Amino acid sequence: MNVVIRPDDASVTEAAYALVRDRLANRHCRVFGLPTGQTPRKLYSAMVAGYRRGELDFDTVQTFNLDEYLGLDAGHPGSFRHFMEVNLFAHVNIRSENIHFLDGLPEDIQAECHRYEWLIRECGGIDLQILGIGADGHIGFNEPTSSLASRTRDKTLTPRTILDNRGAFANEEEVPRWALTMGVGTILEAREILLLATGGSKAEAVAAMVEGPVTAMCTASVLQMHPRVTVILDEAAAARLQCDEYYRWMNENDPHLAAYLDARRQRYGRHTQPGNAS
Ligand code: PGA
Repeated sequence: MNVVIRPDDASVTEAAYALVRDRLANRHCRVFGLPTGQTPRKLYSAMVAGYRRGELDFDTVQTFNLDEYLGLDAGHPGSFRHFMEVNLFAHVNIRSENIHFLDGLPEDIQAECHRYEWLIRECGGIDLQILGIGADGHIGFNEPTSSLASRTRDKTLTPRTILDNRGAFANEEEVPRWALTMGVGTILEAREILLLATGGSKAEAVAAMVEGPVTAMCTASVLQMHPRVTVILDEAAAARLQCDEYYRWMNENDPHLAAYLDARRQRYGRHTQPGNAS
């Protein structure tokens, strides 16, 4: 894992935006997996601003959102589809036929989950999957004890997740108890993963994800098994990491590594690829 620690929320957004802009500029990176939640909200604003400045183009981009509440239609203000429309899709040049979502009101849950898995494969798989992390270590809605090999399916939310997500609803009672979510196995198939976490409430989950054992009790910990993951944290979310000095040292040395690789490229040809510190 490439762990990047930034002083605050704003600089986390800046670093995440730089990575997204770089990947969007690559015509081979076209399929994006997207999260909802408070954490990615600022990244989406930065992406909208970047699009308005002419830095980003979504014309040929396909998106797959990670999850959706069961029992809400797409127009419900608490639905993730609505969140994405308000925070990103309505403001950029993405084509509506390229926006893919799990249906929150499916006639047949299993068929809907199979359709989603099939469609991800049809589009060639996810190039960059962006993630947040729940305070209980979940990714998507893969709550503790989810199978680390799970595929897209329905999931019962924990009381803590329901409480954490009550912001978009009039009260806690209105938060749906169930959701459809990409599975842990589905997420792991993305070619690259970018996970963002900010604030002290995530510190414990972040430490378990980065430095704890790989366990279904913290589904994000399975990202240790993925070869290309960047985790961008603010100081508060990084507060419980034991090897934080090493991550900072690595980040400080990144420019030197880049310069070294550049020199090698010039000397030995263009095929020398940089690593990703995973
Ligand atoms: P948050 O949610 O960004 O609202 O904290 C993250 C998550 O539950 O994945």
